[in-house]
Amino acid sequence: MSNNSTPKASDLSERNGDRSNAYLKIVVGCKVFVEKQMGPTDVQYRKAEILSVREALDHSKTEYYVHYCEFNKRLDEWVPAHRLNLDKEIEYPKQRRGKHTLSGLDSTKKQRRISKLTPLRDREGKLTPRRENYFDSSLFDSPISSPATTNDKLTEEAEHVDDETDEHKGQATDTFSKEKEIEKLRTSGSMTQCVNEISRVKNLNKIQMGIHEIEAWYFSPYPEEYAHAELIYICEFCLSYFLSSKSFTRHRAKCTLLHPPGNEIYRYEGISFFEIDGRKQRTYCRNLSLLSKMFLDHKTLYYDVDPFLFYIMTKNDEYGAHILGYFSKEKESLEGYNLACILTLPQHQRMGYGKLLIAFSYELSKIEGRIGSPEKPLSDLGLLSYRAYWAETIVEKLIDFRGEITLEELSHATGITVQDILHTLQTIDALKYYRGQHIICLSTKTVEQYERSNQKKRRKIDATALKWTPPIFTPAQLRYL
Ligand code: ACO
Ligand code: ZN
Repeated sequence: MSNNSTPKASDLSERNGDRSNAYLKIVVGCKVFVEKQMGPTDVQYRKAEILSVREALDHSKTEYYVHYCEFNKRLDEWVPAHRLNLDKEIEYPKQRRGKHTLSGLDSTKKQRRISKLTPLRDREGKLTPRRENYFDSSLFDSPISSPATTNDKLTEEAEHVDDETDEHKGQATDTFSKEKEIEKLRTSGSMTQCVNEISRVKNLNKIQMGIHEIEAWYFSPYPEEYAHAELIYICEFCLSYFLSSKSFTRHRAKCTLLHPPGNEIYRYEGISFFEIDGRKQRTYCRNLSLLSKMFLDHKTLYYDVDPFLFYIMTKNDEYGAHILGYFSKEKESLEGYNLACILTLPQHQRMGYGKLLIAFSYELSKIEGRIGSPEKPLSDLGLLSYRAYWAETIVEKLIDFRGEITLEELSHATGITVQDILHTLQTIDALKYYRGQHIICLSTKTVEQYERSNQKKRRKIDATALKWTPPIFTPAQLRYL
């Protein structure tokens, strides 16, 4: 058949048959080219790995969860079959000994295997992925408690604190491999690293918080029934979560919180910080961890919030103190970390709040008489923000300072570790070797860049508005098991 002749019906059905067979070979682990919107008018094919498949009997309706190679995971998405370009190169997953990939099976076996993998259908008959895709049953032995339970406890908790009380007794959140997780906590800092693949596929769509509707970036282990809900309603004051606007409205009528449940330790120009002890406000801090996991990928969330203090930054108006972001900090960090996890809620990002949170963490360190550094690894955005904060702070000190200053003095004046200062000086190309010794030398370009960003009226922490003495914990209070 020549290229420009009209295809016959039999040719078309043959071609469609070939297509269906080609789609059948696309299994988890394959790398294919997928159509991706790069800009408003820019569509490109990008190589992507298939992380999950939502099979449909009609192959054209099958959906694929893809991770674009070399792009951040927050761009991962479900795409319909037609966005896969099967005419371009396809990489199939390597077969492991004793294990077959679907492409290696004959067609009857393939069918059987696919029906086993086929996701469950919900009540409307829509396909939903199988539970195993999202929740590792060894981590989540039973579902997380429903918000109704957690909310009722919250107000009580805010008023009555008993260190020995385990108000979540019987809840799954406390029972999942706790010893193992806590051991990891002890050895690896605030959050255990993701050891398995449970969180590869995003399970949430959107959340509504106050006046904002926000798209989830990553997996977060909200209770199973929340996975794939169109919208999750989150109370912006107590951070409880709801599936319907009706239950959320009912909650709002009862919820008395107008600010985070902790001590306000800072207030300046409409911004406040509240200090919260994870042990005393477990429900709030767990809700916060669930929320923040939605935007944090490189760490895995943990329910053991007891070893942490949480510093919540709010913007205040006549309706209350609205959360902008937060950071957590270990009560006792053996590695000298002054910050464990940091988040600006997406609706408030790129407005300088991240740098404000970082600045606040260093102000706390200065009062403690310590030098600090954030817990590693940093995310891509975390690294960008820290680099920006370190560069601004160091350049400002160097410009203000006339005369000689050593790295140790610079570290002492800023609370930033010598290692982080050296790293920053290298990234801004300010470390030179001159007449046999290392010197710091700011280029005109760096100084001009600093002055330009200074003109943007940067938000700053006013240290005199911070009313805080470092909390002291007894060894018994630092024992969490
Ligand atoms: N693209 C490019 N540069 C960026 C971006 C971005 N999307 N976001 C931040 N930056 C850089 C910029 O240099 C910016 O300064 P500028 O706007 O003056 O150029 C600087 O970082 C800081 O920007 P802020 O507005 O102060 O920071 P923001 O409020 O957006 O918060 C944060 C930064 C907290 C990292 C936020 O992006 C976030 O919550 N991300 C998701 C969670 C996360 O990754 N947290 C860090 C994990 S590491 C850890 O927890 C120890
Ligand atoms: Zn509430």
